[in-house]
Amino acid sequence: MSFLIYMSNTFNKHTRVNSLTYFDDAEQASIYTAKQIAELIIEQQKQAKPAVLGLATGNTPKVVYQELIRLHQNEGLSFHNVISFNLDEYYPIGPEHIRSYTFFMREYLFKHIDIKPENIYIPHTVCSPDRIEDYCKYYEDRISSFGGLDLQLLGIGRNGHIGFNEPGSSFESTTRLVNLHSLTREDAHTDFGTIDKVPQQAISIGIHTITQAKKILLLALGEKKSEIISKALKGEISTQVPASILQTLSHVEYILDRDAAALIHE
Ligand code: F6R
Repeated sequence: MSFLIYMSNTFNKHTRVNSLTYFDDAEQASIYTAKQIAELIIEQQKQAKPAVLGLATGNTPKVVYQELIRLHQNEGLSFHNVISFNLDEYYPIGPEHIRSYTFFMREYLFKHIDIKPENIYIPHTVCSPDRIEDYCKYYEDRISSFGGLDLQLLGIGRNGHIGFNEPGSSFESTTRLVNLHSLTREDAHTDFGTIDKVPQQAISIGIHTITQAKKILLLALGEKKSEIISKALKGEISTQVPASILQTLSHVEYILDRDAAALIHE
């Protein structure tokens, strides 16, 4: 069962409306999210336009990608018009590294669908430190060259990060090299084996870049996200909780399972 609630945020100078949809379980929330993405792709196809997607990695979107693959394999959904930009990539890490987000995207989505390889953008993090700034500008320019992101899919970190925009990131930030927060590295340590193997840095698109997307879907699943979801949706809008900026936008939909939504109504 799903519930759609329109939230009116009246916390400070911002008074806007965004929507919250929540589901009994993570699978239903993920399938719903995939459906939103598929509908956008099809809508753009009808108008002979590209669908410019901002994509996330991590545990949260895995079933979304599984469902998109199913729609491709069983229901004829084509990705021929999709241009994708990933939010972030660890630095410095090669694209063949098993924990790179490039590897993740290939395994969990790209190798199973008909997206054109030349339409896939993931921050490339093997460039030397002196070239990073130019590279980040190039990444931003590529997004702009397609008219910006039509849809941005987001997860949320336990510290409220979106992309790897950690607490303290400016709401005006664009693509750049960032230092990873200790909680982010702790959460990644099982993937890498030990904490010292988790990279200290990443390239991440900025908060400004994210907020410019025409539509934003923030998916949060599981009890581990309930505390930060409550802060991000109902707390003060602050750079200390980067996702809180989304309260000010009308084109955001939060998609939650019951566990992630558990503290919202307290
Ligand atoms: C991943 C990303 C991060 C994750 C967040 C949640 O590309 O940008 O913001 O969305 O860390 O990660 P999971 O889904 O593993 O809980």
